[in-house]
Amino acid sequence: MKNNIKILFVCLGNICRSPTAHGVFQNMVEKEGLSDRIEVDSAGTHAYHVAEPPDRRAQEAAMQRDVDLSMLRARRSTAEDFKEFDYVLAMDLENLVNLERICPKGMEYKLRLFLDFAPGLGLSEVPDPYYGGTAGFERVLDLVEEASRELINYLRKEHKL
Ligand code: 4NP
Repeated sequence: MKNNIKILFVCLGNICRSPTAHGVFQNMVEKEGLSDRIEVDSAGTHAYHVAEPPDRRAQEAAMQRDVDLSMLRARRSTAEDFKEFDYVLAMDLENLVNLERICPKGMEYKLRLFLDFAPGLGLSEVPDPYYGGTAGFERVLDLVEEASRELINYLRKEHKL
């Protein structure tokens, strides 16, 4: 595809936070009419859940907001991702550090915390909901929706979309 902007969301397992961001952001891109300019993917820095669909709780919470995550499958992030993608967005500091370890020299500028795009939230990290209850998944969706809106605004300005 021609000069598309490629965004990769990264968490630990690629079954809760980053697939949620993948689905929510992808939906927003479609609603904004930007599908032919922006491509979206997600990955995890660990291999625990590779090839699995998103966590059932993440799927159910997203579906209540009309976001279907069922077709996504977990994969592990790689050094090649830094060549392929323009933005590699970590869900928290642990995953930012994990990504720094595999980031090829000269590609560091692509690596950011996702919530850096939404300074109004006053938060750096999307909290890991895996070991908690359903409220944690709602919280992930709230944060991801807000940061996705801000990321779209940023990309529209930065890339004149
Ligand atoms: P995620 O959540 O990083 O948002 O996908 C997790 C999923 C699995 C595990 C930890 C966090 N785990 O330890 O298996």
